[in-house]
Amino acid sequence: MAQQEDVFKKIVAHCKEYGFVFPSSEIYDGLGAVYDYGQNGVELKNNIKRYWWDAMVKLNENIVGIDSAIFMHPTIWKASGHVDAFNDPLIDNKDSKKRYRADVLIEEQIAKYDDKIAKEVAKAAKKFGDSFDKEKFLATSVHCQEHQAKRDALHARYAKAMNDNDLNELRQIIIDEEIVCPISGTKNWTDVRQFNLMFSTEMGSTAEGSMKIFLRPETAQGIFVNFLNVQKTGRMKIPFGIAQIGKAFRNEIVARQFIFRMREFEQMEMQFFVRPGEELKWFEHWKKVRLNWHKALGMGDENYRYHDHDKLAHYANAATDIEFRMPFGFKEVEGIHSRTNFDLSQHQKYSGKKIQYFDPELNENYVPYVIETSIGVDRMFLSILCGAYTEEVVGDNDTRVVLKLPAVLSPVKAAIMPLVKKDGLPEKAREIINDLKFDFNVQYDEKDSIGKRYRRQDAIGTPFCITVDHQTLEDGTVTIRERDTMEQERVPASELRSIIGKKTSFTELFKKLS
Ligand code: GAP
Repeated sequence: MAQQEDVFKKIVAHCKEYGFVFPSSEIYDGLGAVYDYGQNGVELKNNIKRYWWDAMVKLNENIVGIDSAIFMHPTIWKASGHVDAFNDPLIDNKDSKKRYRADVLIEEQIAKYDDKIAKEVAKAAKKFGDSFDKEKFLATSVHCQEHQAKRDALHARYAKAMNDNDLNELRQIIIDEEIVCPISGTKNWTDVRQFNLMFSTEMGSTAEGSMKIFLRPETAQGIFVNFLNVQKTGRMKIPFGIAQIGKAFRNEIVARQFIFRMREFEQMEMQFFVRPGEELKWFEHWKKVRLNWHKALGMGDENYRYHDHDKLAHYANAATDIEFRMPFGFKEVEGIHSRTNFDLSQHQKYSGKKIQYFDPELNENYVPYVIETSIGVDRMFLSILCGAYTEEVVGDNDTRVVLKLPAVLSPVKAAIMPLVKKDGLPEKAREIINDLKFDFNVQYDEKDSIGKRYRRQDAIGTPFCITVDHQTLEDGTVTIRERDTMEQERVPASELRSIIGKKTSFTELFKKLS
């Protein structure tokens, strides 16, 4: 575990050193849980967004996109339930004065039981070697069964407390489990209180009378309030979806783990409108589609899993997360929710406008049901970086850090390097760049030895390094070096477009989805 924490620290440092992510306002000592994306980060982020947007909007003829405003009428947030119910249960440690989310403290405690079981399994697997039967071991090991029983009891108690919104019980669980503050090491806890996560601001000058408005905590509501606009102008027939990518804001009190939990972040959300009664069928459909979308990137199927929600949000009748194995455990990257007709019905009620769909096949009007897929761009970014970060021993005494990013998402697709800074090699390299730059993000690099240049490109996940040498001037061939295998091959420069294109093609990736 400590080793994994070290890896995570290295990833955070790597992000800064190589222009992926910087703390916001750093020269003023930063702003908590707010981050800026650097020159490589923004490219990776844009590629993630393109992968999502095209997979939704281009590959599905019944899904269209919108871009709604961040500021919205404040009644929207009353209707959606966010004013009254978008809360986190918080608890303070009286000695360290540190504030925690009570639910997170308990979930971490549940994860500790899982870790204990995993350790027992690993120990036995080592002892018994090839003859080890995990299922049998789990069914017979007294230690595992004890841990499992404690875990299940805690889980059931926690799920009930969350569903009942029972803050006293949450506190009691923390006391009974003897959970201590990681800073002070004491169990001196306050009561648990609810804290609303929305940021608010004023719109209009005070002289004219101002209105309190909220920074949206999710992009979804911008889709709901535009349901009729899009359905009518696009002549959309149910089932259909509306997709959106945009910023969201939450005053997260316990903002930790780098860009995992931020106060300003970006979401990619799609609301899929369906007939009442068909929502659970579509929920299963989108669960599968979204998991395939993740797996198609080739980061290892074993690194993803579903996690069904214990506590359903106020609007949902089914909900699952897609989790990714981060260095700090399996964590939510995406949520798939069956939101019933809650949001559209609420907007109908609060706005006084009829929000219904006339279904020509059924010859009836109804408020559609909704399946939502909601993924954080920043969390997706973090999961990709964590999965890609690799430290490798190369040769006898050398190591390299390489980001084994899916090539299609890499910020830079190829680096073109003249072997030396003379003899017409830089000019030839520029010529190749000028030819490739219309199709790919390519970089020119002439500084330092070729070995150092390779390492720099490995560190930002560039799939190809192309070296221009004296032979290039004679026969037009270059050396192309592949990031993961480090194998080098001599190829005609005229073939570069096709070689790079094949490996970094969105089209090839999209074909895997259909
Ligand atoms: N519209 C539904 C909704 O917003 P959510 O589970 O609260 O559901 C969806 O958020 C996704 O947004 C999460 O799976 C996560 O990827 C991302 N997300 C939520 N809060 C975040 C935060 N504070 N920082 C970064 N990403 C966040």
